[in-house]
Amino acid sequence: MPETNVFYNEDCITGCPKHIKDDSIDLIITDPPYGIEGDKLHRHYNRDEDFVVDGYVEVPASRYNEFSHKWIEQAERILRPNGQIYIVSGYTNLYDILDALKATELQEINHIIWKYNFGVYTRTKYISSHYHILYYEKPGPGRRSFNRGCRFGPQEKDDKGGSLDYQDREDVWIINREYKPGQEKNKNELPSALLTKMIQYSSSEGDIVCDLFLGGFSTAKVAIGLNRRATGFEISDKIFDKRIEDVKDVKAGFLLNTLRQPKGDVWENQGKSWTDEEKEKLLLRFNKLMKQNNRSSTIKILSKEFGRGHWSIEKVLKKNNIKISESLSASLS
Ligand SMILES: C[S@@+](CC[C@H](N)C(=O)[O-])C[C@H]1O[C@@H](n2cnc3c(N)ncnc32)[C@H](O)[C@@H]1O
Repeated sequence: MPETNVFYNEDCITGCPKHIKDDSIDLIITDPPYGIEGDKLHRHYNRDEDFVVDGYVEVPASRYNEFSHKWIEQAERILRPNGQIYIVSGYTNLYDILDALKATELQEINHIIWKYNFGVYTRTKYISSHYHILYYEKPGPGRRSFNRGCRFGPQEKDDKGGSLDYQDREDVWIINREYKPGQEKNKNELPSALLTKMIQYSSSEGDIVCDLFLGGFSTAKVAIGLNRRATGFEISDKIFDKRIEDVKDVKAGFLLNTLRQPKGDVWENQGKSWTDEEKEKLLLRFNKLMKQNNRSSTIKILSKEFGRGHWSIEKVLKKNNIKISESLSASLS
């Protein structure tokens, strides 16, 4: 895989085998054509099509299942083991995407609902204002890299005392679409806030992020802005020629200093399993510290010392209730 960002004006189904090696991509974020006559989407949305770049290539609903199987098979091949994929889908052809995913070894991590503003206006039924995001990973020998704490520290709270980290990791995301009056855009351009969130949690600087359906190159632009490398495909000559020019001007890392910095400590051992030795050390330290502190201050100190969150420590203490008193009596004797 080249060091710089390379994009292909080709069909991803035939282009991938030519250009992208097996197991070479760290993260895929993609938003395939929806098979709902996306080339006529403006009939549903109340917006001025003069600013929408034309050339969008749609897939007929009758071919959607076969199409989904073909590109998802390529996605599976190019992802590295433990690499992750986010697929944005409407509900109309969601079945076909799920069917295609089921035919692979890819494993579901979450089925995310993205709730947005500007839903499709209807008079005699509820207004549709969400997309599905299918978040999967390729099985592998390592641990999944999920950057918990990259946006909110474990202790950060909202006004009502709710954990911001918890809220940010819930599987319903409320993120507005970008309203860009008077600016050129692609159909269904994904908002930067949505892409930033996926890229922050699921990749590191220098990783390769691929979008098989580039459209307005939003994934690529945000990925480069966050100092990742980007690649991908767009079948439409018109869209490709227009958008490739913008992406050339994107400066690597330009978004990094716009990111919110998590406050407080991020537990370095969060998510790692406890070893028996570590558990034993924790119990001994707990007994010692409890002689001079109350339980809450003791756990705070232990959190820092062991690089673990409050509940992780509580869990070990609870499971070892009997052992605590045994080791306490041993240390007292
Ligand atoms: C839903 S749009 C992607 C929008 C993009 N995520 C953005 O934020 O601008 C899907 C894009 O896939 C392109 N496309 C359709 N079939 C394709 C194929 N087989 N290979 C590559 N691109 C394709 C369409 O022309 C369209 O631009």
